[in-house]
Amino acid sequence: MHKHVSLLLAGLVASVGMMGTAWAEDDKKPMPGQEIAFNRMTGNCLACHAMPGTKAEMPGSIAPPLIIMKQRFPDRAKLRAQIWDASAANPKTSMLPFGKHKILTESEIDQVVDFILTL
Ligand code: HEC
Repeated sequence: MHKHVSLLLAGLVASVGMMGTAWAEDDKKPMPGQEIAFNRMTGNCLACHAMPGTKAEMPGSIAPPLIIMKQRFPDRAKLRAQIWDASAANPKTSMLPFGKHKILTESEIDQVVDFILTL
C-alpha cells in the first residue's frame, strides 16, 4: 500500500516536471510571470502577441511581438502602465486594461513585467 502511494507520487512529480519544460525554453523553472502571461485563464497575452519561449502553435499577431523589451522599454513604469491600462496611451486599443479592470492583481502585473523584461 505504502509503496503504491509513493509510486503514484513519483509519477505525478514526473508529469508536472514535464509540463514545466513544455512551457520553458530550457530546463530552468519558468518565472511566475511567464505562467501568468501564457495562461489563457490569466494574462493570455499570446492571444494577441507573439512571445519567445512558447510552444503555442499560433500566437496572435494583431499586436507587436513582445521582444527586446528591456531596450525598448528602459522605463519599467511605462511598461507596467501599458499592461495596467493600455487605453491610457491609446483609447482605441484592443488590449485589455489588466490592472484597471482587475483581470490581474497588482502583484501578478509586476510578475508579468519582470518576465517580459527578460524577452
Ligand atoms: C486582445 C489583444 C491583446 C491582449 C490579450 C494583450 N495585448 Fe498587449 N497589445 C495589444 C495591441 C493591439 C497592442 C498595440 C498597441 C495599442 O493597441 O495601443 C498591444 C501593445 C502591448 C505592448 C506595447 C508593445 C510595443 O511594442 O510597444 C505591451 C508591452 C503589451 N501589449 C503587453 C501585453 C501583455 C503583457 C499582455 C498579457 C498580460 C497583453 N499585452 C495582452 C493587444 C493585446
